[in-house]
Amino acid sequence: MLLNQIFIAGLLFQLSAALFGHSHSSANLSYAPVSVSCPAQKISRAANGEISDQEKSWLAKRHAKSDPALRDFLKYTAKFSDEEILRSIPSNETINIGLAPSGGSFRAMLTGAGQLAALDNRTAGAFEHGLGGLFQATTYLAGLSGSGWLVGSLAMSDYPSIDEILAQREIWDLEHPFFNLDGLNVGGSMRQWHHIANEVDEKRQAGFNVSMTDYYARALARQLLPASNDYSINVGYSSLRETGAVSDGDMPLPIIQANGRPVEQVITYQNSTVFEMNPFEFGTWDPSGNTFVDMKYLGSTFKDGEAEKCVTNYDNAGFLIGVTSSLFDMVMDDAVMYTAKFKPLSKLLSKLFAPVMKKKEHVAIVEPNPFFQTDNGHSPNLKNAQDLFLVDGGEDQQKIPLIPLVQPKREVDIVFAYDLGAELPHFWPGGSSLTNTYERQFLEIGEGFSVPYVPDDKTMQALNYTHKPVFFGCDARNLTSLRHTPPMIVYTANTEYTYPSNAPTYKFSFSEKDFRGHITNGFETATRGNLTDDSEFATCVGCAVVRRSQERLGVEQTEQCKQCFQRYCWDGTLVN
Ligand SMILES: *[C@@H]1O[C@H](CO)[C@@H](O)[C@H](O)[C@H]1NC(C)=O
Ligand SMILES: *[C@@H]1O[C@H](CO)[C@@H](O)[C@H](O)[C@H]1NC(C)=O
Ligand SMILES: *[C@@H]1O[C@H](CO)[C@@H](O)[C@H](O)[C@H]1NC(C)=O
Ligand SMILES: *[C@@H]1O[C@H](CO)[C@@H](O)[C@H](O)[C@H]1NC(C)=O
Ligand SMILES: *[C@@H]1O[C@H](CO)[C@@H](O)[C@H](O)[C@H]1NC(C)=O
Ligand SMILES: *[C@@H]1O[C@H](CO)[C@@H](O)[C@H](O)[C@H]1NC(C)=O
Ligand SMILES: *[C@@H]1O[C@H](CO)[C@@H](O)[C@H](O)[C@H]1NC(C)=O
Ligand SMILES: *[C@@H]1O[C@H](CO)[C@@H](O)[C@H](O)[C@H]1NC(C)=O
Repeated sequence: MLLNQIFIAGLLFQLSAALFGHSHSSANLSYAPVSVSCPAQKISRAANGEISDQEKSWLAKRHAKSDPALRDFLKYTAKFSDEEILRSIPSNETINIGLAPSGGSFRAMLTGAGQLAALDNRTAGAFEHGLGGLFQATTYLAGLSGSGWLVGSLAMSDYPSIDEILAQREIWDLEHPFFNLDGLNVGGSMRQWHHIANEVDEKRQAGFNVSMTDYYARALARQLLPASNDYSINVGYSSLRETGAVSDGDMPLPIIQANGRPVEQVITYQNSTVFEMNPFEFGTWDPSGNTFVDMKYLGSTFKDGEAEKCVTNYDNAGFLIGVTSSLFDMVMDDAVMYTAKFKPLSKLLSKLFAPVMKKKEHVAIVEPNPFFQTDNGHSPNLKNAQDLFLVDGGEDQQKIPLIPLVQPKREVDIVFAYDLGAELPHFWPGGSSLTNTYERQFLEIGEGFSVPYVPDDKTMQALNYTHKPVFFGCDARNLTSLRHTPPMIVYTANTEYTYPSNAPTYKFSFSEKDFRGHITNGFETATRGNLTDDSEFATCVGCAVVRRSQERLGVEQTEQCKQCFQRYCWDGTLVN
């Protein structure tokens, strides 16, 4: 009898959960972290170059899907023969593919979306005149800052195709920028900002320090995250490992990146610590920190690497997307200015932000510091501070999120790097993001990873690599003086095909034409103009994808692949 009642109660609960949203906390939607008892297993570890056990299990699930997808890509899109596929990746081999669209504000989010669409077989035209199927074969998708918006919002929406986003428009309403939430509707804007202030207050009242990033993140969530659950107000990044396309292994692991705040004279941006956030863990590979904590329990109090007091929901997805792009919390200043005409609104904003606006350094606070008193890394700043201070992932002028993808134990064979930076006039990329990460490997902080040789940015420009794709690290035999065999890098820079996808970094509002223009041009840059510049481009990409596997097996390239490599590989030439 009792059992029956419990069963029926359980059934009712499940039914109501199904009807009213998936989470049991839907009755109490709060931005505040929630106290829980600490789990039995350890939730902090020394990185020591190893990937987590959870990621290892996930990889098995992912490869069960991505391996057949890769063979389909090679067969149907890259037009490899069955025999060539079998030779290049016999059934006991796997290939890890990483995608790295760079930061660069909404320019990067939109153009990057078009580039991902070009690899995604769900996109109309991607199979016929693109690289359709490569996305389905991908293992990791990394982003930072503007591409953190892209990666984070795709993952938190369960990876819709870009075509679906364009048709449904549930996210990415860039005609109505988030810092001006209701356009000129002052009453609506005031209500929204009041909501945001109350949301952040819940976190503060729960005893956590908040920063401008929290306000900014809640506003940003209204633009980037699905409207359900109050714009994912109580949804953690770690939820991706529990339900949905990532957890099922259907889609690549989304990783977003942030930088540690430089400490005057001691740590500059060049040698600041790079932090990675994935659904399993938060932390850093760098020797300075060398620690990962379980993402689900971010915000817990640690002492000597052991958890003392545990919380969940600190890993709020919108918050972390705000952290990777914290440079843009400056738009909150703009919001105040923008609304100056509407006295009541600008007064309200000034009042709301007064406590966090004094320091204009765009720093996000993660508190308590998960690295507090750990002995894994050698940076006293990370170890001794109560709070961890993070800044925008692109502040170190390495706007391509390569660091997570070049960690040797991730065994990534190839990275597609899409440079959407703005080092050249008119917001076009100049190549220095790549050269800066290349150089980082020779600093003490870079001792754990390797990046293939690349030329200086002047040479990149002179050889026109800022206008057409180039392959780096084509021949592993030439890379033996590096510490590890790095992945190959296929570098593609933003360039104009049918639309100038060079929106200024501080442009936050896009007309429909501008919006679609960036996405379409992204598709075209990723496919060499829908394969019109080179009808063999998809085959050449296939040749690059299988290269490391062939090298491991001692398999010779086909004549066609050799010609592709002649056309696309950097041969070591420098131009000065
Ligand atoms: C609901 O939220 C409030 C305010 O954050 C909190 O005090 C309370 O403990 C929460 N209740 C539950 C059941 O989580
Ligand atoms: C992509 O989809 C098309 C159908 O639209 C199919 O014919 C093709 O085999 C698919 N390609 C891959 C690589 O899965
Ligand atoms: C797969 O099999 C081939 C041929 O037997 C062998 O050379 C290769 O090392 C194997 N690869 C792995 C990853 O076990
Ligand atoms: C390239 O393909 C995309 C996607 O199918 C399409 O939207 C775009 O118009 C094409 N560009 C050209 C120049 O045909
Ligand atoms: C965080 O909160 C603690 C306790 O209230 C306070 O001592 C500390 O100064 C705060 N840190 C920052 C950066 O505001
Ligand atoms: C970081 O770089 C700066 C400038 O090159 C240097 O002075 C400093 O010693 C470096 N710090 C570390 C921890 O390597
Ligand atoms: C560089 O590439 C662009 C686009 O393909 C082309 O228009 C331009 O002529 C090239 N410049 C040189 C110097 O080859
Ligand atoms: C690798 O090294 C050989 C011999 O030094 C050289 O001929 C070749 O161009 C190099 N290949 C690449 C891709 O750098």
